[in-house]
Amino acid sequence: MAHRATLIMVYVRSSERGKGCSSALLDAAVIYAREDGIRQLELAVSAENGAALQFYRRDGFQEAGRIPAGFIHDNREIDDVVMVRRINDEYPLRPSSGMKSSRIRKAGHKAVRP
Ligand SMILES: CC(C)(COP(=O)(O)OP(=O)(O)OC[C@H]1O[C@@H](n2cnc3c(N)ncnc32)[C@H](O)[C@@H]1OP(=O)(O)O)[C@@H](O)C(=O)NCCC(=O)NCCS
Repeated sequence: MAHRATLIMVYVRSSERGKGCSSALLDAAVIYAREDGIRQLELAVSAENGAALQFYRRDGFQEAGRIPAGFIHDNREIDDVVMVRRINDEYPLRPSSGMKSSRIRKAGHKAVRP
C-alpha cells in the first residue's frame, strides 16, 4: 500500500480559476509523490462536478469506478467517481502537454527537476 496515495482535494480560489493554477499544483504534487515512491494517485470526486472531472481527466486520471450515493448534499444522494492515475516514471508528468518545470517553480515546490 505504500505505493498508493490519495489526493484529498485540489481547490483554487474562484478568482484564480482558469489560469492553470490547479495544473501547476498537481504537477508539484506528482513530483513530490514520485520522489516518495508513490506509483499511483487516487481520488474521489462528485459525479456532478463537471469542471473537476474534466480537469482530472485532462491530467491523466481515469475513472476506476463509482460509489453510489457517495455523499449527500441538500438531502440528495450523489455518486462519487473514483479516479486513478499512474505516476511512476514510465508515465509523463503531464499526459496532455509534457513537463513544464517553469510552472512547477511558480507553484513554489522545492523538488524541481531540470
Ligand atoms: C477544479 C478546479 C480545481 C480547476 O482549477 P483551475 O485552476 O481553474 O484549472 P486550470 O485552469 O488549471 O484548468 C485545467 C483544466 O481543467 C479543466 N477545467 C477547469 N475549469 C473547468 C470548467 N469550469 N469546466 C470544464 N473544464 C474545466 C479544463 O480541462 C482545463 O484545461 P484547459 O484550460 O486546457 O481546457 C477549480 O475549478 C476548483 O477549485 N473548483 C472547486 C474545488 C473543487 O471542486 N475541487 C475538486 C474537488 S475534488
